Amino acid sequence: MKVVLAYSGGLDTSIILKWLQTEYDAEVVTFTADLGQGGEVEPARRKAEMLGVRPENIFIDDLREEFVRDFVFPMFRANTVYEGQYLLGTSIARPLIAKRQIEIARQVGADAVCHGATGKGNDQVRFELGYYALEPDIKVIAPWREWPYASREALINFAEKHQIPIAKDKQGEAPFSVDANLLHSSSEGKVLEDPAVDAPEYVHQRTISPEDAPDEATTVTIDFEKGDPVAVDGKALSPASLLEKLNSLGHDNGIGRLDLVESRFVGMKSRGVYETPGGTILLAAHRGMESITLDGGAMHLKDELMPRYASLIYNGFWFAPEREMLQAAIDHSQQHVTGRVTMKLYKGNATVIGRESAHSLYDQDLVTFEEGSGSYDHRDAAGFIRLNALRLRTLAQRKARLDPT
Ligand code: ARG
Ligand code: SIN
Repeated sequence: MKVVLAYSGGLDTSIILKWLQTEYDAEVVTFTADLGQGGEVEPARRKAEMLGVRPENIFIDDLREEFVRDFVFPMFRANTVYEGQYLLGTSIARPLIAKRQIEIARQVGADAVCHGATGKGNDQVRFELGYYALEPDIKVIAPWREWPYASREALINFAEKHQIPIAKDKQGEAPFSVDANLLHSSSEGKVLEDPAVDAPEYVHQRTISPEDAPDEATTVTIDFEKGDPVAVDGKALSPASLLEKLNSLGHDNGIGRLDLVESRFVGMKSRGVYETPGGTILLAAHRGMESITLDGGAMHLKDELMPRYASLIYNGFWFAPEREMLQAAIDHSQQHVTGRVTMKLYKGNATVIGRESAHSLYDQDLVTFEEGSGSYDHRDAAGFIRLNALRLRTLAQRKARLDPT
C-alpha cells in the first residue's frame, strides 16, 4: 500500500510515519506544506529520509501565496468570525492541505491518505471531508483513532523502539498543542484546559502583550481592490507578503490575541488561545472599507449570511456547494469595495480612523446637518415615519381598548 501522509516533521507525525511503515507495511509518501507556520520546512526532508522515505516520495511545497489568495482572502471578504470571535485560522488551512494531499496521491498513484489529527477534534473532520469531496473512494488512515497507544508514554516508547529522535523537552508532556500558519497560531490543551485559569504569557508566540506595546500609536493605510487588500502604506504587496506585513505590525502593537471557549463540531466545548495579528487588523480595515462602498441592504444580508458561512468553514465544508453558493454572493458584493482605509494601531487595538474611495456611497452633502443640496426633503420623513408607525399605533390602540388600566 502507498500512503500520502500530511507530515510536519514533528514528533507525532514522525511516529505516525514509522507506524504506517510497520503496521501497514506501507510505502510512505510525505507531504509537508509551508503555510507560513514559521521555522524551516526543509528539516522535514532530512527527517523523512532518515525514517526511510525515498527522496522521490518527499514532497515539500510552499503554499503561502495560494493559502492567502485563495483561502484567507475569500474568507475575509465575508468578515468571517465563528461564534462572534474566532477568525478560523486553523479551519481555513485544512482544505488546502487536503487538496494538495489528494493531488499528490493521484500523482504518485497512492491508495490512501493519512493525517495526524486526533479523534476528538474538528481537524479530522475537515481533512477527511476535504479528501472525500475531491476523491470519493480514497482510503483514509487516521492513526489517532486506530492505534493502541493511549498515553504519551506509550507513544514515546514506540518512538524510542524505532529510533525516532525525541527532543529533550518532548520527553514528557508537551505543555500544549500548537497549530500555526500565516494567518494565526492556536494553542490548546494541557496548561490551557481549565477555562477558569488565565493563559500563561509564554503561550503567546506572535504578539507582544498589549501592556508591553509602545505608548506611541502606529498609523498605516491599507488599500483594497474588490474586497481584497493589495497595498500597505501605498506599497503594493503579494497576498502572503501583505499578510506578513500586517502580522508584523500587529505583533509590535499587541493586536489579535483571543482567549476563547468554542463549540467543536464533534459536540464538546474546548478552550483555545489564538493569535491573529494581521487578520485582526484586516478584519477591521475591510469593514471600514465596506462601510463607505457597500450598500446597506447588501451589507446587512452579508452579515446575516456570515455566521452560516463561518460554520461551514469551521465544520469542514469548504468544498460543499452551499459554501460555494455563499462565496459567489459574497464575491459579487465586493465589486465596489475598493479604496483606502487608514488604521490606528495602539496597545491591542486596531481602529479605523479614515476611509476614502472613488466608489464611495457616502455623500457629505446629503448627510450634513448644515445647509445641503435639494435632493433630500425633510418633509418626506414625516410620511415615512407615519406609515412605519401605522401598525405600532394600531397595536397600541388595541392594547388600550382591551386593557384600559
Ligand atoms: N480549535 C481550533 C479549530 O478547530 C484549532 C484546532 C487546532 N489547534 C491546535 N492547537 N491543535 O479551528
Ligand atoms: C486535534 O484534535 O487534532 C486538534 C484539535 C481539533 O482538531 O479541534
